[in-house]
Amino acid sequence: MRLDEILFSQGFGSRRECAGLLARRLVRVSGKVEADPAADFEPAGLQFEVEGQAWTCYSKALVLLHKPGGYECSQKPKHWPSVLLLLPPPLRQRGVQPVGRLDQDTTGLLLLTDDGTLIHRLTSPKHHVPKVYEVGCDRPVDAEQVRQLLHGVVLDDDPLPVRAEGCEATGERSLRLTLVQGKYHQVKRMVAAVGNHCLSLHRSTFGALTLDDGPAPGQWRFVTDAERALLMAKPPR
Ligand code: URA
Repeated sequence: MRLDEILFSQGFGSRRECAGLLARRLVRVSGKVEADPAADFEPAGLQFEVEGQAWTCYSKALVLLHKPGGYECSQKPKHWPSVLLLLPPPLRQRGVQPVGRLDQDTTGLLLLTDDGTLIHRLTSPKHHVPKVYEVGCDRPVDAEQVRQLLHGVVLDDDPLPVRAEGCEATGERSLRLTLVQGKYHQVKRMVAAVGNHCLSLHRSTFGALTLDDGPAPGQWRFVTDAERALLMAKPPR
């Protein structure tokens, strides 16, 4: 595939803007400046740099963002800036969207992609992708609250109880909850349903992905092919 087409496919602007990046010698492939728009490369997995920033070529982007507090997951946010502002323009240009939503005040692991099928695959409760939340509670956590969260609680928009796949107290006023659904304000509403109140919420895990090795709050990185394969693998049930 021509290099100018590769840049275009990755969100680096119009064809004319991509040609301009090459003409201004701002693109490097394998460490070497490449200025020929017709230079031919295999696009899948191609590593390149634009203005010093490293990129990997994916036909569909999947990125992991460490969401800080104070950002909305909406594309048209009402009160807080959009998480999309934490991503560089080429990713926004490609139309990446959050895979599910985290509340404005929730921190932690957020995936974003321009692959609609993947969004469906990762958010559908049918596929049972577990997400782990670290919850700071207002009141002490007791065994009865943990039991109820595991057994199932009824929320106000659905008569069917929702239950946590996993729940453990991690401190006097903290819980670790594992959910496979992603209902609106689900953790906060489940915690309220057992008579407690969520003061802080952090998502530490999404399927096989964790924030253990970064990125730092506000930073992002591409999800690798190996990680993608792990995400798509059926979890043991
Ligand atoms: N549950 C919530 O209540 N809020 C989130 O941001 C995520 C899960």
